[in-house]
This record gives sequence, structure tokens and C-alpha cells, in this order.
Amino acid sequence: MVHAPEYLKRPDGGLFDKTSDAIDEVNVLKGKKKEAGRVKEEEDFRNYKDACDRVQNFYKEQHEKQTVEYNMKAREKFLGKVNVKMSIWEAVELLETLVDDSDPDTDVGQIEHLLQTAEAIRRDGKPEWMQLTGLIHDLGKLLYFFGAEGQWDVVGDTFVVGCAFSEHIVYPDTFASNPDSTHPVYSTPLGIYKPGCGLTNVMVSWGHDEYMYQICKKQSTLPREALAMLRYHSFYPWHREGAYSIFMDDEDHKDLEAVKQFNPYDLYSKSDDPPKVEELKPYYQGLIKKFFPDVVEW
Ligand SMILES: [Fe+2]
Ligand SMILES: [Fe+2]
Repeated sequence: MVHAPEYLKRPDGGLFDKTSDAIDEVNVLKGKKKEAGRVKEEEDFRNYKDACDRVQNFYKEQHEKQTVEYNMKAREKFLGKVNVKMSIWEAVELLETLVDDSDPDTDVGQIEHLLQTAEAIRRDGKPEWMQLTGLIHDLGKLLYFFGAEGQWDVVGDTFVVGCAFSEHIVYPDTFASNPDSTHPVYSTPLGIYKPGCGLTNVMVSWGHDEYMYQICKKQSTLPREALAMLRYHSFYPWHREGAYSIFMDDEDHKDLEAVKQFNPYDLYSKSDDPPKVEELKPYYQGLIKKFFPDVVEW
């Protein structure tokens, strides 16, 4: 078992876990709401309200601070240097020790969520690369311990910066205090982009998705669909609400299908039986070996 080095610890690691959980919960409930056309059960509705209240402040801060300027700086800061060198499995264990504050209130530990996602994909007979994608999809949350400014630049739904903020983003009104919302170029429908430019060429707000995508694009042999699942899994305005289609190219349409396939495993595997970490470890270490070098630079 990996022991988290002191310098990486943040006293609010447990709080971070709670915010992550609440954000997922909102997305689960919004998904149900969308499927039913309305909130069916009264209980669901109450959960949704509670979760929304909890995450509302989070999004208010995120939507104020995710600017083009910040996004350029973050890419330079986090991708321009190596924070730690370690294997993928060590990263899985490290994330668990960093965010777990043994709070009985937190739903599922990070390692459990990763393994439940991967195991649900494996049970459905999906290919090895997709199982592995399930295992690693949230490892970018390590950003929080590599010097992120807060939770707002690590978790939460993502969206495009550099063009007008979409109405399909959760709590769209909270962008009023983002300086880009009145910028002469960034506030226009196309902003700095051209129609059909391809999502690879747009800047998606910075967080754990983009970070892990960049790591894997450079250091793994995972296929394009896997990279899409990593980069866009929190990109709800796009994969659930249909925003940003004006920027899509042909490849993006294939990516969208891949991300839609992946999403239910991320959202709905949390109630599965708790995975037996030590039993599963050899299998997943075998998969990691097929797609990653022994040591990854983070
Ligand atoms: Fe995630
Ligand atoms: Fe996840």
C-alpha cells in the first residue's frame, strides 16, 4: 500500500471527496429526471434539492474563475513539469489515501469507485482498454494535491472556454461574474473558434478530465475512444445536453457515442458490491502493463 507523502496532503482532502460525491449525485439525479421527463419520486426530488444546494456554491466559484486566462496558465503549470513519477496502480492507491478521511458520511472511496466502474465494464464483456479506462478515469483528481487552487479547478462538469458560456451548463446564471462573459471575443457564440474546427481544438475547462487525457495521450497506447472517455466524461453540456455541436467534426461524432457508452458505468456503478481490492489488483496490474510504461510522469 502506498503511503501518501506529507507534502502532498491537504487538510481538506475529505471535503474534496464530499464535493466530488455531491457533484456525481446531482448528475445521477439529473439523468433520472431527464429520462422520466420530470422528477418521478418525491424522494428523488428531495435528494436532488439537497445535493443541488451543496454543489451550488461550488459551481458559483467555478463559473467565476474558469477563464481563458486561467485555463492557459493551468495547462502551463500542470503539464509543464513533472510532479511525481509513479505507476498507474500506485496513483490509484495514492488517490485513495489522500482523499479518505475515514468520514462515515462519504459514499464510496475513490479506489472503490474506480474498481466498481472498471468491474461493471468488464462484466459487460467490453474490451480491455475500456475496462482500464474505467479504472483510471478519475486519477486526474490527484491534481488537487499537485497544487490546484481549489476544488473548482479539479472536479465538476466541464464546458468550453473562449466562446459564450452555453445555456446548457448547470447554473448558467453564475457566469455573470466571470470576466469572459463580457469579453468582446470570448462572449460571442463562436468566440476564438471556427465552425467544425473539431473539439480537439477547443479548450475545455481545466480539471481532472483534461489532465488525465493529456497524461494518457502522451504516455499510453490507449485508443482514441478511451482518450475521449477520459477527456469528456464530465463534459455534460455536450454529451448529455447536446451543446457545442457547431464545433464538432466527424471524429467527434464517434467520440460522442463512446462517451455516452462510458457514462452509465461512471454514474451507476456506485451501488454495486464493494470490490475486493487485493483480489482484483493482479488482473488490473496486467491490464496497466499492456497500455502504460511501468513508471508514469505525473
Ligand atoms: Fe470524473
Ligand atoms: Fe468517476
